[in-house]
Amino acid sequence: MTALLEYRGVGKRFPGVVALDDVCFAVRGGEVRALIGENGAGKSTLLKILGGQYRPDSGTLAVAGEARSFASPRESQDAGIAIIHQELQLAPELSVAENLLLGALPRRHGLLDRIAMRERARAVLARLGEPIDPDTRLGDLSIGRRQMVEIGRALLRDARIIAFDEPTSSLSTRETERLMAIIGDLRAEGRAIIYVSHRMEEVFALADSATVLRDGRHVLDAEHVSADDEPRLLAAMAGREIADIYAYRPRTHGDVAMRVAGLAGPGVRAPVDLAVARGEVLGLFGLVGAGRSELFRLIFGAVRPHAGHVEVEGRALPPGEPRAAIAAGLALAPEDRKDQGIVPVASVRENVALAWRNLARATPLLRRATEAAEAARQIGTMRVKAASPDVAIATLSGGNQQKAIIARWLMAGARILLLDEPTRGIDVGARSEIYGHIYGFAEDGGSVLFASSDMAEVLGVADRIVVMCEGRIAGIVDRADATADRLLRLALPERGTRNPFLDDEAA
Ligand SMILES: Nc1ncnc2c1ncn2[C@@H]1O[C@H](COP(=O)(O)OP(=O)(O)OP(=O)(O)O)[C@@H](O)[C@H]1O
Ligand SMILES: [Mg+2]
Repeated sequence: MTALLEYRGVGKRFPGVVALDDVCFAVRGGEVRALIGENGAGKSTLLKILGGQYRPDSGTLAVAGEARSFASPRESQDAGIAIIHQELQLAPELSVAENLLLGALPRRHGLLDRIAMRERARAVLARLGEPIDPDTRLGDLSIGRRQMVEIGRALLRDARIIAFDEPTSSLSTRETERLMAIIGDLRAEGRAIIYVSHRMEEVFALADSATVLRDGRHVLDAEHVSADDEPRLLAAMAGREIADIYAYRPRTHGDVAMRVAGLAGPGVRAPVDLAVARGEVLGLFGLVGAGRSELFRLIFGAVRPHAGHVEVEGRALPPGEPRAAIAAGLALAPEDRKDQGIVPVASVRENVALAWRNLARATPLLRRATEAAEAARQIGTMRVKAASPDVAIATLSGGNQQKAIIARWLMAGARILLLDEPTRGIDVGARSEIYGHIYGFAEDGGSVLFASSDMAEVLGVADRIVVMCEGRIAGIVDRADATADRLLRLALPERGTRNPFLDDEAA
């Protein structure tokens, strides 16, 4: 049987980078092929070529056996291809219905047919199981829901080749499960599916086959994959064995570095009391919507608390003043990298130096001199993969942008790091390095609050785990006593109250 989609020797260069080099692989109808590889391996570039955003420098694509080259996203769409991009490409100012049907808006007598538009939007939202009003402004939805709308666009186009670029990075458990079911249906309908993810459990749950990319080359094709293949696939991705990605290092803790006293505010319903010591890595676990990000924003002063306060080194911070928090040594790396983290048009160097620059008291001249060297050092430490520190950060792969944000806070000399889902979208090898940096930071006397919805990660890196549920602390567990079962029991709301699997709207 001819493959529905084939990459034939595809190559792509950017200034200073060979993003893809002679990549060949094929996907049949009714097949889900996982595309995996480290950050910057070239996965998104491959999909952008398929989507008509980039043209390959060499090689070609074949759709149903016929060589094709797309000069625009339009041409790709017309060939029955849909891509769900890693960085969402929707218009926040438009309604959900408009976003769903963009480029294919129904018309009657030359006018936009709003009734037909709403109807089609409603039908696809129902298929996704999303109770969203099609008239809602897209920008008012949670990131997870925006991602579902992007997926809805692909369903509406009835594409026969569908590529997902890390679609679950901001989905809740429930949304992820639903997406898995939808992809199962698409497969059963005979569509060809490419699935990019750093979450190996998803790959094994979903994929029939896998292609591994490393530094722009395909290094492994596996026609059948199961969980038994994990070590083999990880080794192919990284070019080395990865034994224990957490490699936990125990350490002694010092005095209390930060105390949170009776803190409550938007999203944090019951007053939070918490102390974190110097040298401590505190995990913050909870389901989507449990209030972890909200607690971070209150601690950092990005949101004004209704009650309570935060003390750093025994001194109370003025409420609702992030500048004072930063001056006291706090740093917040937010969950939503695209909206809150990076300055896309600025260079990698400028993005990394941003927080340091605001703190530095040196003269502008001296600052310029040390800034470049210090930023370069941090870029090196975090192994941010960029052609040069001067390229716009937007040209970096998703995971490398995330590493740059972490580098920013290390460079700023922060003493207390609030990291909100810091390893989302980061490959296994790089995650392992980031954990190492976190332990090192703590060994130097720093304190880390590490929020994650990945239970294995929290169990792997934290000295102590705070479990949140519905805007309150449900329990605090020492590493020695922490088990998956215990964390999950604390994280789930009591029976009879809200069921997170039926309603995790709060994201
Ligand atoms: N528009 C661009 N300009 C310059 N370089 C680019 C551009 N797009 C991608 N690159 C570079 O091409 C390489 C591959 O990037 P790509 O985004 O395809 O990686 P990826 O495998 O998707 O990584 P991740 O898992 O982090 O998303 C990287 O080195 C990246 O910096
Ligand atoms: Mg990518």
